Amino acid sequence: MIYITRREVFAASHRLYNPDLPEEQNEAIYDKCANKNGHGHNYILEVVVAGEIDPVTGYVLDLKDLKRIIKDNVIKKVDHKHLNHDVDFMTGIIPTAENICVAIWHQIADKLPSGRLYSVKLYETENNYVEYRG
Ligand code: NI
Repeated sequence: MIYITRREVFAASHRLYNPDLPEEQNEAIYDKCANKNGHGHNYILEVVVAGEIDPVTGYVLDLKDLKRIIKDNVIKKVDHKHLNHDVDFMTGIIPTAENICVAIWHQIADKLPSGRLYSVKLYETENNYVEYRG
């Protein structure tokens, strides 16, 4: 098994806020991330696909195809958008790095050959990232 990674970046804003909780509790949990009008991040996304090398092409998967799948299903929808308001696949989801990462997995998993998506990693800052493996 060999693993290939495609890296993309996008800029997006969000607000961490649970509408089911009172204001004070949101502030206690999310602190400045609950700022009413949101704040932004430069996110780094890494998508890892696993497979065996095709003896004819020498590829696991054509990286051009992986790039297109990520662009069409994720980057075009989130780049320069507000994750709480503008993104169909984030509707009703609190846009923590954890939740965004899982949502991105579901956006692309069924666009790839079955069982090939290995991991989705999302860096929200230089120091924090989350990784989902389905
Ligand atoms: Ni944030």
